[in-house]
Amino acid sequence: MKEIKVFAPATVANVVCGFDVLGFAVNEPGDEVMMRLVDEPGVRLLKITGDEGRLPLDSAKNTVSASVQHYLKHLNRPDIGVEIELHKKMPIGSGLGSSSASTVAGLYAINQLVGNLLTAKELVPFAMKGEELACGYGHADNVAPALMGGFVLVRSYEPLDLIALPTPSNLFAAIVYPEVDVPTKDARQMIKAKVLLKDAVTQWGNVAGLVSGLFLNDMDLVGRSMKDVLIEPTRSILIPGFDTLRTLAMENGAVGFGISGSGPSVFALVKDEETAKKITKLQQKHLAQLNIRSNAYVSSVNAEGPKII
Ligand code: HSE
Repeated sequence: MKEIKVFAPATVANVVCGFDVLGFAVNEPGDEVMMRLVDEPGVRLLKITGDEGRLPLDSAKNTVSASVQHYLKHLNRPDIGVEIELHKKMPIGSGLGSSSASTVAGLYAINQLVGNLLTAKELVPFAMKGEELACGYGHADNVAPALMGGFVLVRSYEPLDLIALPTPSNLFAAIVYPEVDVPTKDARQMIKAKVLLKDAVTQWGNVAGLVSGLFLNDMDLVGRSMKDVLIEPTRSILIPGFDTLRTLAMENGAVGFGISGSGPSVFALVKDEETAKKITKLQQKHLAQLNIRSNAYVSSVNAEGPKII
């Protein structure tokens, strides 16, 4: 194979209670990367579409090409040459793992082109380098589910210990992206570095509850564990109409609701597609009343990760 086109999915990081340690992938939206092997050694990013000129074309600065460079360096293959096109199909700075989707598509592509040398899990550290470049910290809660599919727990960062969690088959994500700017870097800086022990107790009870709920396929337990006393009170201030968006989700049948990643997107987990669509419609209507434009995505949880298209 000389040329490949790959789709990698958006992701919902944190899943409310699990800051930096929980995430899941969705089927839509996502990004596409076209990659081809060429004779001239080195990694060249030829073109980016759909980014309105916001992303760097410099191969050392773009998360896609930079992580591919790390990967080839790790394999000790400076002789390999690749040309890359990145096609952004999802909003940047939305809290849906935009940089992660691009990076993961690129890593999946190069790994396929050189003979599938590493597993999805083994690709995660290279993708984390991309996150470091994008937001200053190599968190894994977007890139791990984007690569592995489904729900993933980052049990530990040092050493990296990733646990694939069960993915309920009939679970939908109802996502609404209000078009306000919340860069992950800024959204990380506003969080308090120290937490109260009583809040930590609440939080780790919920993380354990959510993980148990997925193993037991107990959606009621998943829902009542989707509470965040540490991060949400600070970050939700940046999201217009946040409390009403929650009320609209929870009063119309959502399992749980919260901020997707660092925001401004919000998401609800919902047991059926119709309800998910109804919730996003109501939430978009509310945002329109606040003069905020928004996009909505209703998708089942993605259990597979990236795919060749
Ligand atoms: N865990 C990260 C954060 C996810 O909340 O900052 C960013 O998408």
